[in-house]
Amino acid sequence: MKVLGIDIGGTSLKGAPVDTKTGEVLAPGHRLETSARLSPADMGAALARMAAHFDWKGPVGVGFPGVVQGPYLRTSANLHPDFVGLDAAAEFERIVGAEVSLVNDADAAGLAEATFGAGRDVKGAVLMLTFGTGVGSALFIDGLLYPNSEFGHLKKDGQSWEKFVSGAAKERRGLDYPAWAADVSEYIRELEDLVWPDLVIAGGGISADHDKWFPHLKIRSRIVPAQFRNDAGIVGAALHAARAL
Ligand code: BGC
Repeated sequence: MKVLGIDIGGTSLKGAPVDTKTGEVLAPGHRLETSARLSPADMGAALARMAAHFDWKGPVGVGFPGVVQGPYLRTSANLHPDFVGLDAAAEFERIVGAEVSLVNDADAAGLAEATFGAGRDVKGAVLMLTFGTGVGSALFIDGLLYPNSEFGHLKKDGQSWEKFVSGAAKERRGLDYPAWAADVSEYIRELEDLVWPDLVIAGGGISADHDKWFPHLKIRSRIVPAQFRNDAGIVGAALHAARAL
């Protein structure tokens, strides 16, 4: 099955057609700059522009940076508040004119890695963490996803951990890799005490620079970079749609 995978991020949309049997990205990815202030209707229009770029009429899988239950969005920590409570699948289907299925963006990235990437054939507890605008998480046991784990919102000093350790937080706080890695270590150690992962997979744009920060981590678990790098969200959104639609 071929599905257009789209990853909604804090500052851009990324998309590409994906062969869901193999996880192969079938065309060079396309990126559209967006703003965190886009309303659901404007986001729908951006999704339609992405589909038009690929002249796409088939099914569309969308990764969204918030809790997703069926067609409904339940949270929107870094995007417009009007997404909360929305039947986004229906709204986006209306605007895009194609079948749309939704999944949490980090769950999407994790699905790609668990199926075809760094977590393929790994037994036990696998924790995917994405470090981007926010911090996303996806938890797997023997390859099966526990959805909407939302570990970026565990609290440190009364604030979500993502405010300290996301890729955006690293920039905002002006931290170099060793200083940022010290905070990421503290964060992962807290997660280790809660879910005892056998493997941690690090994703998000900053995972491409893993050789600059993995050596500074002081954690128990084995950690590896996402194999799909920044395409994990696109591939996983397509995989989820192939299973759901
Ligand atoms: C959201 C998560 C999302 C993560 C990464 C968090 O703020 O609550 O749902 O996976 O950001 O985008």
